[in-house]
Amino acid sequence: MSEGDRSNEVVRAWEELAAWYDEKMGEEGDLWHRTLIDPGLLQVLGQVAGLELLDLGCGNGYLCRRFAREGARVTGVDASAPMIERARQREVREPLGITYHIADAADLSILGDASLDVVVSNMALMDIADAAGAIREAARVLRPGGRLVFSILHPCFDLPGGASGWVIERFDFTSTIWRKVSRYREQFVAPVPWQLDGGRLAYTPAYHRPLSWYVRTLRVAGLVVTAFEEPAPTEEFLAASPQGSWIAEIPLHCVIEARKE
Ligand SMILES: C[S@@+](CC[C@H](N)C(=O)[O-])C[C@H]1O[C@@H](n2cnc3c(N)ncnc32)[C@H](O)[C@@H]1O
Repeated sequence: MSEGDRSNEVVRAWEELAAWYDEKMGEEGDLWHRTLIDPGLLQVLGQVAGLELLDLGCGNGYLCRRFAREGARVTGVDASAPMIERARQREVREPLGITYHIADAADLSILGDASLDVVVSNMALMDIADAAGAIREAARVLRPGGRLVFSILHPCFDLPGGASGWVIERFDFTSTIWRKVSRYREQFVAPVPWQLDGGRLAYTPAYHRPLSWYVRTLRVAGLVVTAFEEPAPTEEFLAASPQGSWIAEIPLHCVIEARKE
């Protein structure tokens, strides 16, 4: 399958899930985003007031709206047309001055060179078929000194398609949690399951790339890693998710900041 076909497959999957995902994320993100993923991303990002900001792979745009309310000038880009349609509907209901575009992250020709202060991408780069192209484009649209801040599934511990998983070992009266990982050095695409209402499963393709791939690809694009975080679960996540105490030991996602030289 060509890279273009693969990209279409990902986008089709996200088109089909747009209504469900929009509902699930709403205005603040679901439990995982609101209490586990976003706090770490937002901490690395810091204040956004006055910044020219792009949310790459913005989904239903709930973070775009947060950034706009905090005073950033925000553009949202996503390749899924129904996802952007829903983001635009929310903008009509509550105008915040956000501009949304339907575009592939690897082709941001709608945006000029060196026109932005920050590119944010929350849990999207591992879904993007041409992630190297997306990183190149993020670097192109950033001003010198500008930052790309993104979260992804942790390449060391959360690999798609069953290449990683929890193992519970019971011995005497104790149980120990292990994280099993295989195929780490490979680059591959595999399905990630989502549980829809009524228990039905749907799948979106996700790309595994080793951590060194990200650092190297950022470097080639002219971006230098300035922060790498493996955020711990918040108290709210620990209380609400059965996986909370396991993730407190082993992170399933990470946040990377890279600065344009
Ligand atoms: C897991 S969702 C994350 C959405 C949002 N950032 C959030 O935090 O809710 C991944 C998003 O990446 C988008 N996406 C996948 N491939 C893309 C591509 N090639 N270019 C732009 N967006 C893409 C999908 O449509 C989807 O909205």
